Amino acid sequence: KQLSRINIAIDGPAGAGKSTVARLAAKALHYIYVDTGAMYRAVTLKALEAGIASDDEWNVGLFAQKLDIVLLPGEDGQRVLVNGEDVTSRLRSLEINRNVSYVARSEGVRSRMAELQRLMAQDKGVVMDGRDIGTHVLPGAELKVFLTASPRERAQRRFLELDPASGISLDQLEREIEERDRLDREREIAPLVQAADANLLDSTGMSIEQVAEQIVRWAVAAASTN
Ligand code: DC
Repeated sequence: KQLSRINIAIDGPAGAGKSTVARLAAKALHYIYVDTGAMYRAVTLKALEAGIASDDEWNVGLFAQKLDIVLLPGEDGQRVLVNGEDVTSRLRSLEINRNVSYVARSEGVRSRMAELQRLMAQDKGVVMDGRDIGTHVLPGAELKVFLTASPRERAQRRFLELDPASGISLDQLEREIEERDRLDREREIAPLVQAADANLLDSTGMSIEQVAEQIVRWAVAAASTN
């Protein structure tokens, strides 16, 4: 039977492994991977560079309207271009980690990001990861996954992403991740919450490959019924 192209939404808290498994699943399915967290990070980077405070919701929202963000598949992962400038290597710093949840509260930022994200998904065949994809950006996604893991395991994964010179301890990072999740869950607009029709997947103790395989199995099932 011919499989139809579907959209897949993968949401969950920071460090649950969303981007790695979303990338693997997209590769296996020959789909396009869209990392929406990277888009919020890119807005944060450019806003800080422009001297706008991350919690200045109004001005950060106005500023985001002027940004064109393009995601390009590259050899070592996805590249992020903001108004043509490649900012990929600067998105995973502690400074961005600490500011991005404030930027992500701005209504202007969220509406601009959702607009860009819906354009990317209009032809289907997209695996999109974030916080509000199944609930707000693509409520019609044929497969929704809510991916979690224990706070410790999530901190360990983010620890490996950081520059060793940052000097932050695992305990401190775990506290910062829990604080960021709290901000993401408690914000007014499009908070982090499991969609009613999402499949819950707790990846604690599972390998990246096992998680990706589970998602691909669900995707094949959803693509044959749609
Ligand atoms: O997945 P990440 O850690 O790269 O995301 C960075 C921040 O961006 C996260 O703290 C919340 C925000 N975010 C969001 O509000 N909505 C999304 N769809 C994706 C990320």
